[in-house]
Amino acid sequence: MITLKTAEQAAKMRAAGHLLERVMEAVCSAALPGVTTGHLNKIADQMIRDAGAVPSSYGYKGFPASICTSVNSVVVHGIPGDEPVLEGSIIGLDCTISLDGWQADMARTVAVGRISKEAERLIAVAERCFFEALAQCRVGNRLGDIGHAVQACAESEGFSVVRALCGHGIGRAMHEDPEVSNVGEAGRGMRLRPGMTLAVEPMINMGGYEVTVNGWDVKTLDGSLSAHYENTVLITHGAPEVLTMKAVGA
Ligand code: MF3
Ligand code: CO
Ligand code: CO
Repeated sequence: MITLKTAEQAAKMRAAGHLLERVMEAVCSAALPGVTTGHLNKIADQMIRDAGAVPSSYGYKGFPASICTSVNSVVVHGIPGDEPVLEGSIIGLDCTISLDGWQADMARTVAVGRISKEAERLIAVAERCFFEALAQCRVGNRLGDIGHAVQACAESEGFSVVRALCGHGIGRAMHEDPEVSNVGEAGRGMRLRPGMTLAVEPMINMGGYEVTVNGWDVKTLDGSLSAHYENTVLITHGAPEVLTMKAVGA
């Protein structure tokens, strides 16, 4: 079921989103060579709880941490642990929180120290895919316009789009309808309506789009690098609002 949020409900999601943005800033800037993924999880978990929010991933279907840490060929859902992240790696950091019963979901992929030019380009393209998709997040457009925008952006750069996982509606629950595919045909699928809140989250691989799932880890089948970029977006009568980026308002 798709839930359209009232202005009051959207305001609560905005508050969750702005808190999550601050949490993610702290986590991303701590992702330096030698730090463990477990330490990054601890930073997030503490900030979330100190602010009176709840880390939604913790205990979700048994997930054991408050953020996902996905290194190099791990696409998403990496479990934080004792291993230090190494100079030259890329790391996807994904966090969902709820504040006052309302969720926000956000991910970034960052460089650990110096990385290759190709890895830098992959990270930049994943971000650009999101903003191309965001430009389609307008009343009257359809879900297929979002997927099409991501796919066109990634493939024009010689990268591929993960199909096995997608974005989603979000609200009181972390995952609501509809599914927000990162591939698709323009002009197809459900129409976007004001008050919809969507987690738009391109997952872009340097090699092929196929993935393999091992426990929680989702990895690229060919071992190539993967980058993930996610925000929670509010559909309005005008420009979309990125609830997880204070600077990108309606
Ligand atoms: N943040 C993820 C998403 O973008 C979901 C987290 S899965 C969990 O939808 F198991 F880690 F909770
Ligand atoms: Co997420
Ligand atoms: Co999500």
